Amino acid sequence: MFETERFVKDCQRALGENDAQAAVQELVARAVAEPAGILKALGEPTLAGVHTIHKADDLTILNLVWGPGMDLHPHDHRMWAVIGIYGGQEDNTFWSRSDQGLKRQRMKTLVQGDAVPLGENVVHSVKNPLDRLTAALHVYGGNFFETPRSEWDVETLEEHPYSVEHTMAAFEASNARLRDSSGG
Ligand SMILES: [Fe+2]
Repeated sequence: MFETERFVKDCQRALGENDAQAAVQELVARAVAEPAGILKALGEPTLAGVHTIHKADDLTILNLVWGPGMDLHPHDHRMWAVIGIYGGQEDNTFWSRSDQGLKRQRMKTLVQGDAVPLGENVVHSVKNPLDRLTAALHVYGGNFFETPRSEWDVETLEEHPYSVEHTMAAFEASNARLRDSSGG
């Protein structure tokens, strides 16, 4: 059964492995194989949001809830990541940098139970195609909030410094739509 504290400790220990990302992927895969356990530990999500489970210079663990139909602009991480879905679906679009700017490369749909590694040079945008929340564990091999990196404008694909506030605003906008649609 998923226990938040033990999961954090296991991830910390995994950082000492030769292939830390692969070790974390194994832990995330085991966790999302039992979504009920995660829901019991973290609670049933009711709104979109980025909930920090653990934050350190070498490790960030997020409980990330995507709003219905929510679409997040392209961004990079500049550190490895593992994404594990414990409810719903994430459609990832992967982009590549080129002299002509950002180029769409491929798409990958992640569904409940998937645990996938993302390399440190990945640029992706994320959409929740469902009309309900999607919930995921995101583990990063660094300080997700304080590492300078990039995001790209959805329309112009122009590169800008990554803004945590811009990302949070996307989650807020999604929750505003959610509240409107529920009449509350
Ligand atoms: Fe991301």
